[in-house]
Amino acid sequence: ASLELGLYSHFMQKEIHEQPQAVAATAEVFLDGGFVPENFGSNAREVFQSINSIKILACGTSYYAALTAKYWLESIAKIPTDVEIASEYRYRDVIADPQQLVITISQSGETLDTMEALKYAQSLGHCHSLSVCNVMESALPRASSLVLYTRAGAEIGVASTKAFTTQLVVLFGLAVTLGKLRGHIDAEREHAHTEALRQLPGSIQHALNLEPQVAAWAQKFAQKSSALFLGRGIHYPIALEGALKLKEITYIHAEAYPAGELKHGPLALVDENMPIVVIAPNDALLDKVKANMQEVGARGGELFVFTDLDSHFEAAQGVHLIRTPRHTGALSPIIHSIPVQLLAYHAALARGTDVDKPRNLAKSVTVE
Ligand code: G6P
Repeated sequence: ASLELGLYSHFMQKEIHEQPQAVAATAEVFLDGGFVPENFGSNAREVFQSINSIKILACGTSYYAALTAKYWLESIAKIPTDVEIASEYRYRDVIADPQQLVITISQSGETLDTMEALKYAQSLGHCHSLSVCNVMESALPRASSLVLYTRAGAEIGVASTKAFTTQLVVLFGLAVTLGKLRGHIDAEREHAHTEALRQLPGSIQHALNLEPQVAAWAQKFAQKSSALFLGRGIHYPIALEGALKLKEITYIHAEAYPAGELKHGPLALVDENMPIVVIAPNDALLDKVKANMQEVGARGGELFVFTDLDSHFEAAQGVHLIRTPRHTGALSPIIHSIPVQLLAYHAALARGTDVDKPRNLAKSVTVE
């Protein structure tokens, strides 16, 4: 293992740092070939023209990629999308719509609940399925009519990192492809999306360079027993992913809330002992997030804010800031995944847990 790890201490650390290359390799499909349906299979054009909506099924981190994709699919492609945890969907009485495209997302391609959910959908009459997967020829792509592989390379750490960000690249590419096909994207917009994708690996590298600052925050988190992650809109799934990473590898209790829901419960937990991570890039909801932060600050909560260049935040008493150095527009959730991964990783190091093999968890869950 030490040979494979090179200069890194853990696979998770290595995989976090591989993200610029993994994302570049995955984006190449769209950068070289354009946003064309054929990237997803030879008959994808016909399928994409016939669908009226999308259902995404997944588990774990892949489910959070699905939640993020919903925002892109509805705002860029204007296609109604719902997202469901595979282990819930497969036992539910579903009203199936054969014109709906069923997407499964899975790093391993072998997660039993996701596989069974796909089979269930197919048994109900769904005939169009797309697999977004990292392992070639695994069960899910084999059972799906369309596939686009992420090119993350082997992921060893149980806590998923590069598989997640590459899934997001594929799903963003899908949204642009569908948006173009359905006439919602003109040449100028398409060009802007292409450029954003082209610059993404560099922006991820900038975010990785924040590691020393994030590691300093992580020392404080390592001593806590609980943490709250907040986000709004497309950054809410990133708050969920941040909380999942932290609990998986540090065993610190963490939960995520859409910041607007604070007042309906979690505000009661806030005191000086519970750090609050806020994903707060400059987007249409920034002012709302700032108001939510004031509610927390007024109750003595210590805020750790990930934001970007021109969001006009000032660090203050009880408000710590780390700024990602570039603006990435629609791809902002991908960039903000990086610091929450680093935060969990360094908090785990400080606590001395088994980062790559957290207790009770498996990389690929092929049992019920
Ligand atoms: C396990 C892994 C997670 C992963 C989830 C779904 O819980 O520990 O990292 O997100 O399974 O796995 P999949 O291979 O379907 O993406």
